[in-house]
Amino acid sequence: MLPTDNQVLKYQFKSEEKLPVRIWEDSREASLYVARAIGLAIKQKQQEGEKIVLGLATGSSPIKVYGELVRMHKEEGLSFSNVVTFNLDEYYPIDPGSQQSYVRFMNEYLFDHIDIKRENIHIPDGTLPMEEVEAYCERYEKLIDMSGGIDIQLLGIGRTGHIGFNEPGSWENSKTRLIRLDSITRLDALKDFLREEDVPYRAITMGIGSILKARTIYLLAWGQHKAGVIQKAVEGPVTMQVPASFLQNHPNVKVIIDRGAAEELTRFKSPWLVGICNWDEDLACKAVVWLSKQVGKPILKLTDSDYNENHLSDLIIEYASSYSLNIKIFNRLQHTITGWPGGKPHADDTFRPERAKPAKKRVIIFSPHPDDDVISMGGTFLRLVEQGHEVHVAYQTSGNIAVHDHDAFRYIEFLHEFGLTQAIITGEGEKLCRDVTQFLLNKQPDQNDTPETRLIKGLIRRGEARAGARFCGLSDDHIHFLDMPFYETGRTRKNPVSEADISIIVELLRSIQPHQVYAAGDLADPHGTHRVCLEAILAAFERLKAEKWLSDCWMWLYRGAWHEWPVDEIEMAVPLSPQELVKKRRAIFMHQSQKDRPPFPGEDEREFWQRAEDRNRATAQYYSALGLAEYEAIEAFRRWRFLL
Ligand code: F6R
Repeated sequence: MLPTDNQVLKYQFKSEEKLPVRIWEDSREASLYVARAIGLAIKQKQQEGEKIVLGLATGSSPIKVYGELVRMHKEEGLSFSNVVTFNLDEYYPIDPGSQQSYVRFMNEYLFDHIDIKRENIHIPDGTLPMEEVEAYCERYEKLIDMSGGIDIQLLGIGRTGHIGFNEPGSWENSKTRLIRLDSITRLDALKDFLREEDVPYRAITMGIGSILKARTIYLLAWGQHKAGVIQKAVEGPVTMQVPASFLQNHPNVKVIIDRGAAEELTRFKSPWLVGICNWDEDLACKAVVWLSKQVGKPILKLTDSDYNENHLSDLIIEYASSYSLNIKIFNRLQHTITGWPGGKPHADDTFRPERAKPAKKRVIIFSPHPDDDVISMGGTFLRLVEQGHEVHVAYQTSGNIAVHDHDAFRYIEFLHEFGLTQAIITGEGEKLCRDVTQFLLNKQPDQNDTPETRLIKGLIRRGEARAGARFCGLSDDHIHFLDMPFYETGRTRKNPVSEADISIIVELLRSIQPHQVYAAGDLADPHGTHRVCLEAILAAFERLKAEKWLSDCWMWLYRGAWHEWPVDEIEMAVPLSPQELVKKRRAIFMHQSQKDRPPFPGEDEREFWQRAEDRNRATAQYYSALGLAEYEAIEAFRRWRFLL
């Protein structure tokens, strides 16, 4: 859930939770808290003239903690001279110099920037011959004990529930050892390896027993894609099927999560099951939608006894009767449905999601990658254009890392064979074609694309995006390519959002002065690109807050290819007919380089158009099960209310 209010404070109940959980607004604040706690512990040990032993994790979860520790070293003089570290794991086999090695990760994010003694750093060795691994693991374990044991252990959590690389089936008392990676974990690792066949099948990991010996443990998790596994680890039984649940047997664990990762906890999902609620209409809506699903009845058929038997008797008391509550929530949901996403001209808009005026709106659709516009809101896009609004689409990043080499090669070859190379590509251009050809012919699995290759790949995606937007009815001068610099690393790891990124968006907003903005509010994107793209838009609006036009600008958030808004949070539901759904599919098909199997498919085997259709159909079915009209498909949006 992308919060717009302080629901965390509203839902204070937590009796299902078997681990202490602390929920933060966002991962940055949470990471600062953890980094500060580590910094304090380091200083305390320094004052006592002692070493401190840290257990460290890699992956996306601890990155901001490391960033803050580096800042504290550089700006506040925090010294790491008394720090000894043991990393949880390393792929096996792996060359420590390769991009995906955890040695390289740790150097890049932490060790190269602080004054830690190199001899105090320990990372499992992924280069050993197989016959030496067992003895090595025993030594690693002993070394931790001989250093006095781990004082503070940082953990991330995998979607399988793994901590370290202790996959489901690991024993509670397991020690450092060589393990086989779960297929889900290998799929997740694809984001770093590019090709499935390059992801190692094994890793060396500290065991659950080794982790549980640490004196203090911080488990970090960010984003909705971690919500399910966090719920299992925190509220579920202790089981080797969810290795993180063994943390429930440790006396000093702190689970540090952001709101996205907290979404599935009972205190958010169905707080009435764990305490007395402070009812407002949002919470009542959540409860009624939940109850309707729970008992399998449409809203208008829910009875007092349905409420009473499902922990919701105080809700009925609050609203006098189930009859009046049912009608209230039914109407609320009914009013989210509109075939006029830009507002219905000359109609009473009291209960419509959008304003009727101005009848013709200036609209910007921000699309983080070049295909999110049509995947996530293709039907709404088509309607906005058909209904005569001035629609602009802004592709925020080039999307160039998600193009297969063979596609780039095909385009280059086409240019050569068409015989136009000499005629239209003179000097520089021809050299560029030759360089890219040479590079692609000799490219190693571990190699980043050259800037020229990225250019070609970016152009491929540009062409596809243009085709998709033209298909939706846009003229070329309404198609904007922002090529935000944070994305241009040539790797899956991106830079943080910078001034340059924000200024590009400020300029576009200022030149169009839109009445309506659509942006991706899907924060479950595994590479974080959607998150950064939204951050940049919000920062741009913050800069523009003094401008008059902004008071008449509404922003709607759609969710990308991964999750949909929970039904009770949807504020605008745009129905699609069967024909419109087919049209949307054709717009998505314009993105040929992403068809069949894109380089970064994520955890889902389905193609993007299939995911989009399944999701839009599921929303429509949900609406119909609640007793609302039955549509073929629905695209859903939530309004962002600026706190300017
Ligand atoms: C990394 C490790 C793993 C990760 C986990 C989550 O050293 O041991 O358990 O912590 O896979 O990864 P991210 O943080 O990338 O979601």
